[in-house]
Amino acid sequence: MSAEIFEKANAFLAEIEAYEISDAASLEAFRIRFLGSKNILKGLFAEMRNIEPERKKDFGLLVNKVKKAAEARFESAGDRATGSAAASVDKPDLSLPAGNRFQGGRHPLSIVQNKMVDIFSRLGFAVVEGPEIDDDWHNFTALNTPEDHPARDMQDTFYVQLEPAMMLRTQTSSTQTHVMEKGQLPIRIISPGRVYRNETISARAHCQFHQVEGLYIAENVSFADLKQTLIYFAKEMFHRDIKVRLRPSFFPFTEPSAEMDISCLICGGPGCTVCKKTGWVEILGCGMVDPNVLTNCGIDAEKYTGFAFGIGVERTAMLHYQVGDLRLFFENDMRFLSQFRSVT
Ligand code: DAH
Repeated sequence: MSAEIFEKANAFLAEIEAYEISDAASLEAFRIRFLGSKNILKGLFAEMRNIEPERKKDFGLLVNKVKKAAEARFESAGDRATGSAAASVDKPDLSLPAGNRFQGGRHPLSIVQNKMVDIFSRLGFAVVEGPEIDDDWHNFTALNTPEDHPARDMQDTFYVQLEPAMMLRTQTSSTQTHVMEKGQLPIRIISPGRVYRNETISARAHCQFHQVEGLYIAENVSFADLKQTLIYFAKEMFHRDIKVRLRPSFFPFTEPSAEMDISCLICGGPGCTVCKKTGWVEILGCGMVDPNVLTNCGIDAEKYTGFAFGIGVERTAMLHYQVGDLRLFFENDMRFLSQFRSVT
């Protein structure tokens, strides 16, 4: 019995030596037969249990010899038959330059939002997150938005339910009301997040975008505090010689209200599509919290005053990176995104 098995092993040895290897295909056939994952030599190892104990060692040596012979044959024939092809399968070329390893990075909007959070954190603002699906009270009514205000119109708001009304929040100002209702004063928070509006998508507008809301309520908070806070933010954010201006405006939840523009960093002044040829770009709305809002949320409006602001993250990012079209942020085109490789 065992003689037969020895014979079989020797026959493989002979076959290996005599195997006709003339091209890549025959080399591959040889590899599959003798070295592949289901190679024929595996059967020899299985035969070990049929060998008498005193011959096991000899058989082991023989099988090893067959295996080594197959490897040596493959190597030498490979070099001759296919030149570099076989060589490259077995032996990596260590002299080749290393391949570029792909490294992911944060989305530019996240980088800018994180930077905004960082700036306000330094001023003592804590981060609070609010719900993206909210009710009418928190998104509109408590914020002093009258029943007939056009912003409530289905044109602008994505309702997910009509009775009772539930909607995708149209502004992060909704977080203000959630925080005020908790009644822990003073309040000094910012709330970054996504908001939704039924807007036509263009270079300047999108149906989903991001805001960073700010709210400060304490005793004796004044408009001067608001102004200094926002000027500090603008200087820290853009780190450039920018001009800032506050324009009177209207929001239902603030009185007085203002909007802040910064000098257009895309065209540097003469006018472009982003600044609508004015040289100024609006980046935020702000104001002193309307006493009605404080009262709606159970805060004593005689004792407390506050300011609030809502900054557009896309606008800020467009200026910061000088990107002229907001849609680029949402297209997930790697050629665009790979230019912002900050890991912070
Ligand atoms: N919620 C306003 C908007 O989306 C922005 C805003 C204006 C937020 C004034 C405020 C504020 O907190 O006080 O247009």
